[in-house]
Amino acid sequence: MKKYRVLFVCLGNICRSPMAEAVFRSRVAAAGLDDRIEIDSAGTGDWHVGKPPHEGTRRLLDRHGIGYDGMRARQLAPEDGGQWDLIVAMDASNERNIRQIVGGSASAEVIRFMSLLPERGVTDVPDPYYTGNFEEVYEMVDAGCERLLERVKDRLADG
Ligand code: 4NP
Repeated sequence: MKKYRVLFVCLGNICRSPMAEAVFRSRVAAAGLDDRIEIDSAGTGDWHVGKPPHEGTRRLLDRHGIGYDGMRARQLAPEDGGQWDLIVAMDASNERNIRQIVGGSASAEVIRFMSLLPERGVTDVPDPYYTGNFEEVYEMVDAGCERLLERVKDRLADG
């Protein structure tokens, strides 16, 4: 059966998008849907390519018992536009960069992560690389991933 493919994208692919990848993977596994949904993350920048998640992200994932084995940063490539059903940008700047990199012909739907939590009235997941506040990001990522799973379940049910 064809999988629904979700790619999380931030700037460096070491703080926010790997956190979202790991949290969503864990929620998807808990729902028994890991054979129906494929998950990855990437960064629009190339500074950290090949590196594991940032210590702050690892600490939060460890605290919540969520694995991140083997995760390494990679840069978003133009081909990603045709390889994913949904690309989730962690902030508005990421979204602009994604559209630039994948171009107009991409088949993937591109959304901002915080559009999953519209009641908060917040546009962007703040970048903890600069704020140092990984707890705040974890809370947003966890709540958004819960919504995202409901949304993807609907897509799977629609075929
Ligand atoms: P991320 O955070 O986009 O959430 O992974 C950042 C990581 C590194 C840099 C910027 C943001 N950097 O400029 O190196």
